[in-house]
Amino acid sequence: MPKITLIPLNRVIEVAAGTTILVGATRQGIAITHDCTEGICGTDIARITAGAENLSAKTETEDITLETMDAGPDDRLCCMAKVLGDVTVEIIEEDG
Ligand code: FES
Repeated sequence: MPKITLIPLNRVIEVAAGTTILVGATRQGIAITHDCTEGICGTDIARITAGAENLSAKTETEDITLETMDAGPDDRLCCMAKVLGDVTVEIIEEDG
C-alpha cells in the first residue's frame, strides 16, 4: 500500500491506493484542517515535497482553486489529491 509521510508531524501512514490524502490522514486520527472536501475552499492546502508524480492529476476545480490562492507548483489540496504511490506531504497551516 502507498505510504504518506506527513511533515512536520513526522508520521508515516499507509493508505489504500486511490485514497485522498485527507481521508487517509483522517482515518488514522490525523487532523488536517478542511471544510468543503470538494476542492473549493482551499483550507487543506499542502506542499508535496516528494512523490508528486504518485498523486492523481489535478481536476479543473482544484487547479482553479490553487490558482486563485496563488499557490506554488508543488501545492495540492488534500481532499482532491488521491494517493497512488509513496508521497511526502507538508501540511501548511495558516497563521492565525
Ligand atoms: S477541503 Fe475545501 S478544498 Fe479541500
